[in-house]
Parts: sequence; structure tokens; C-alpha cells
Amino acid sequence: MKVFLCPNRTDLARLTATLLAEQISRKPNSVLGLATGRTMEAVYAHLVQRHREDGLDFSGCTTFNLDEYVGLPATDARSYHAYMHTHLFQHVGIAPSRTHLPNGMAADLAAEGQQYDAAIKAAGGIDLQLLGLGENGHIGFNEPLSSLVSRTRPVVLAPETRQQNAGLFDGNPESVPPLALTMGTGTILESRRIVLTVAGKAKAEMLRAVLEGPVTAQISASALHFHTNCLVLADEDAASALTIRPALDHALKHDPELCALHSLLT
Ligand code: GLP
Repeated sequence: MKVFLCPNRTDLARLTATLLAEQISRKPNSVLGLATGRTMEAVYAHLVQRHREDGLDFSGCTTFNLDEYVGLPATDARSYHAYMHTHLFQHVGIAPSRTHLPNGMAADLAAEGQQYDAAIKAAGGIDLQLLGLGENGHIGFNEPLSSLVSRTRPVVLAPETRQQNAGLFDGNPESVPPLALTMGTGTILESRRIVLTVAGKAKAEMLRAVLEGPVTAQISASALHFHTNCLVLADEDAASALTIRPALDHALKHDPELCALHSLLT
């Protein structure tokens, strides 16, 4: 695992978008794993801008999102289908048939999960998976005690997750659906490359736990230590609780890959 620290949230979003844009330029038919959440809104805004100003071409890409609430149709403004349409898909000219999210309206949710994993495989697997970090350490909606080798499946959302995501539901955690479909941690780990983007003080303690260990099913993001091509991008606020900071600073100075990221910032 490599860790790159950005001075602030704006640079963090810009760098995350740059890595996605580079992936698309290098391989126009990339399979992208996409995430939702507030952190990603700025990332998608940058990508939309690059599509408009630099002609970044999404038309050959295939996308798979991490998760969706159970019981919300795609037409519901609070669904992740709607989020992706609003923040990215409608602006960048990607055919709807190339975009995938789990169907939270499926009659058989377990079967939907299995079909989702099969669709990822049929597309050739995910080239680059974008991840955010939940305050309880989840990736996707893999809540505490999710198996570290789990597959795409229905899950019960933790109370703290419903609390954090209540903003779109009139601020009432009880209005957040109690169930969701999520890519499994094991599914996520099959991606060829992973970028975890973490911003803000509220995530600082959890980022410390993720990076400094131990690996535990209490914190699904800690399973990323089992991935051999995982890059963590964090802003200074999110990095503020790290005790391994000197080692990170040393790597930032000497690791060619991290030095190259530095040049992308300026
Ligand atoms: C939701 C998503 C996660 C995402 C998290 C972070 O819970 N299911 O995939 O990582 O939000 O959200 P935010 O960026 O708003 O903190």
C-alpha cells in the first residue's frame, strides 16, 4: 500500500480525477469501479470539466458502482443511480448500457449480487476501483464484521452509516433504507488497481486505524493491505492522526511513483 498526502481537499479531488483521467487516456475501454458520497462529488466535477475542456472521452468505458440502497428506484433522487446520473453520467456522454449499479429493486437480492459479480467478470474485471472511506471504516457498504472475502450481496446498514447518510433523507436516519446491495470486499480486492480517497478531520482516526492496523473485519478498509496495487490519497486533515507520518514523509521523498504524483499536483 502506498500513501500520498495532499495539502487540502481541493488538490485531493483534483488528483483523484487526474488518476482516473490518466487511466481512461491510457486505456479508452477501461472498466472503472466508481463510488458515491460527498468526497466524490468534487472528483466527478473535475472529470466533467476535463470532458468539456480537454475532450476526455468516456464513451469506450464501462462502469460498475460499488453500491445502492435497497428499495429506491433509479428515478428516486436519493438513489445512487440518481447520484451518478446527476454528478457524472449525464455530462460525459457515456451510454447508459455501459454504466452499472446494483439493482436495489431486484426481487431476489442475493441473485442480483451474484449476477453483478458475474457481469464484472464478463466485462474483464475492474481496471481501476475508486473508493471512499466510511467513518466506521466501510468500503462500499461493507459494514463492520463483513467478511474480508465477501462477494456482492445485500447487507444491513449500520446505525452510524444511516446517521452519516441522513442528509439526503431530510436529516432523519430512520428514513435511510436499512438495507443496501454492496460489492463485497473480496470483489473489490479483485480490481487490478485501487485508489482510496479520504478527506476531512472526521475520518482521521479511522484512517489511522486503516493504515496502522490491525487488519480486522471490524474495518473492511483494512483488507486493502491484501491488495498489491492500492494507493491511498488523503488530505492533511484526514492524515492528522497518523503516527507513521515520518515513514510516509520519507516514502513521499524517495518513492518514484509518489514523486510523480507530486508533479501532477503542481
Ligand atoms: C457511502 C458510500 C461509501 C462511501 C461513503 C463515504 O457510505 N456507500 O462507498 O465511501 O459514503 O462518503 P463521504 O464521502 O460522504 O464521507
